[in-house]
Amino acid sequence: MRTYLVTGGAGFIGSNYIHYMLDKYGDEIRIINVDVLTYAGNLENLKDIEQLPNYRFIRADITDKEAITKIFAENDIDRVVHFAAESHVDRSIHNPEVFVQTNVLGTAVMLNAAKAAWEREDGSFLPGKKFLHVSTDEVYGSLDEDGGYFYETTPYAPHSPYSASKASSDMLVKAYIDTYHFPANITNCSNNYGPYQFPEKLIPLIINNALHGKKLPVYGDGKNVRDWLYVMDHAKAIDMVQELGCLGETYNVGGHNEKQNIEIIHIILDVLREKLPDSDPRKAQISEDLITYVEDRKGHDRRYAIAPDKIKAQIGWEPETRFEDGIRKTIEWFFENEDWMANVTSGDYQKYYEEMYSNRK
Ligand code: NAD
Ligand code: TYD
Repeated sequence: MRTYLVTGGAGFIGSNYIHYMLDKYGDEIRIINVDVLTYAGNLENLKDIEQLPNYRFIRADITDKEAITKIFAENDIDRVVHFAAESHVDRSIHNPEVFVQTNVLGTAVMLNAAKAAWEREDGSFLPGKKFLHVSTDEVYGSLDEDGGYFYETTPYAPHSPYSASKASSDMLVKAYIDTYHFPANITNCSNNYGPYQFPEKLIPLIINNALHGKKLPVYGDGKNVRDWLYVMDHAKAIDMVQELGCLGETYNVGGHNEKQNIEIIHIILDVLREKLPDSDPRKAQISEDLITYVEDRKGHDRRYAIAPDKIKAQIGWEPETRFEDGIRKTIEWFFENEDWMANVTSGDYQKYYEEMYSNRK
């Protein structure tokens, strides 16, 4: 029975990944979810599996060396899947330090603890042990509107404090691979969407605002392009890289689904109108008139686009969920889980929203 240590498993992608893995492997695997529960961590995301005997939650900070070392000492960990991070670009522009703390220092603590637990006296590593570092395509910087893709060989050129901290953490993982032959992989994925995504990110924010008849804030001219991937396709890619990938390698994961932000907003409005029954009073207020162009994000990357050629050729992974289907599944999930959205948007979220949007021209 393999034991997985998943960091950040109470967040958006981590909780989807845990669901994916338990659905796929059942009680053939054991999962230990280590999460400190920041504003983005939510145990509600895991309510349906929390009683399973092969699942355990430990509240701990990945920058807490002692706590992390203890988890490795008390459990025979076979796989680490490292999601825990500060993940929102706008927050990183307002408060960069915590991004360095969690994303860089936290990754260093995770690498060091895994190395200490898995390394033999001769410097080799126990067989079967693997560390997967979950990263982003934002480390590659920004592409021109009219062409080009991010490949694994594209030089790093991060612009935001978020992407700079993720790039730094990737570099640390690469250094462990090169220096110690540490058994790790890195995945650099494009923008995810799906159930459990916190409504600070574009898609759930637009869904939530539209349902409440609130303005839909579009940064700049709305023509920035992101390459959207359904989160379960990402979960599958992570598992496939860990099982079938070549250790030491980086794999880009992407959706071949480039869309301008304004297109995304129009699609969401169309699907909301399609899904809401005429009897629902919210339907009448879903309107393009809610779209509001606001001051651009500082250092706003123009376009991201992944070429997932390597992961397809070497591992056989490719995106499965078409955006038209993924966005419908996502919106249906938000309809069925209105309490989830109500809970995460109460309290601190209101303050965040005020701070982030009220002074934007
Ligand atoms: P998220 O913000 O939804 O979740 C992050 C989780 O990490 C939360 O549960 C939070 O409580 C936890 N966490 C934060 N600081 C911690 C600490 N110090 N110790 C322990 N736990 C801590 O993020 P997400 O969108 O699920 O992203 C997960 C990972 O995937 C991140 O590393 C991110 O960089 C990467 N990624 C995200 C996307 C995307 O579109 N969301 C795309 C590519 C890569
Ligand atoms: P986001 O979901 O924050 O992801 P990332 O910045 O990591 O790509 O933003 C996606 C795109 O949507 C990005 O170009 C910024 C834009 N955006 C808006 O126009 N309005 C918003 O309120 C938000 C949150 C994002």
